[in-house]
Amino acid sequence: MKEALMNPRLKIVKHPLILQKLTIMRNKKTDNKLFRELLNELSALMAYEITRDVKLCTNEIETPLGKTIGYKLAKPIAIVPILRAGLIMADGILNLIPMASVGHIGIYRDEKTLRPVEYFCKLPKNINKALTLVIDPMLATGHSAAKSIEIIKERGGADIKFVCLISCPEGFKVFNKEHPDIDVYTAFIDEKLNKKGYIVPGLGDAGDRLFGTG
Ligand code: URA
Repeated sequence: MKEALMNPRLKIVKHPLILQKLTIMRNKKTDNKLFRELLNELSALMAYEITRDVKLCTNEIETPLGKTIGYKLAKPIAIVPILRAGLIMADGILNLIPMASVGHIGIYRDEKTLRPVEYFCKLPKNINKALTLVIDPMLATGHSAAKSIEIIKERGGADIKFVCLISCPEGFKVFNKEHPDIDVYTAFIDEKLNKKGYIVPGLGDAGDRLFGTG
């Protein structure tokens, strides 16, 4: 399983502030409000690092004192949270990239086949032209992440990055097998997945901790 982690498609977004905020989120004593706020802040910090290399185009602009070169992102950005925990990450990234468009994908696991099934999908019309950030705090089994990318590719998405807070070797392996062309950005790679599909040590059920449903 360790070789999965040597894959250049798995990118760790390193920053002292990210690690400190993630540590507070992991703590079981952290309440829902603080947990939500931290995920929001962390998502913006991650997006800042991830978009470091996006291409720019230039145009001439006029300041009150003269002409200069201006810069603009060469491509539109689309954010696609996987429901429901991805929603709070989307809010955080929108604080940084307010002009991004937002799509939503809902996936559930069929009890009989255990396969991921789409129950909701609304994507921006320009998904084929955009840099698309697909977001979910946890890359756990990897099935819903992989299914989401499949859905976006089917609808024309081509420039896609998957962004999560915590991943695990099992989840990345499944994801990378289905989508070896897609980069995964994560703040931390945890030890393992347990039998119930939770990341260990992880942070528990992200959706429940975000929305107080645990
Ligand atoms: N989803 C979560 O919210 N937590 C996990 O550990 C795994 C999946």
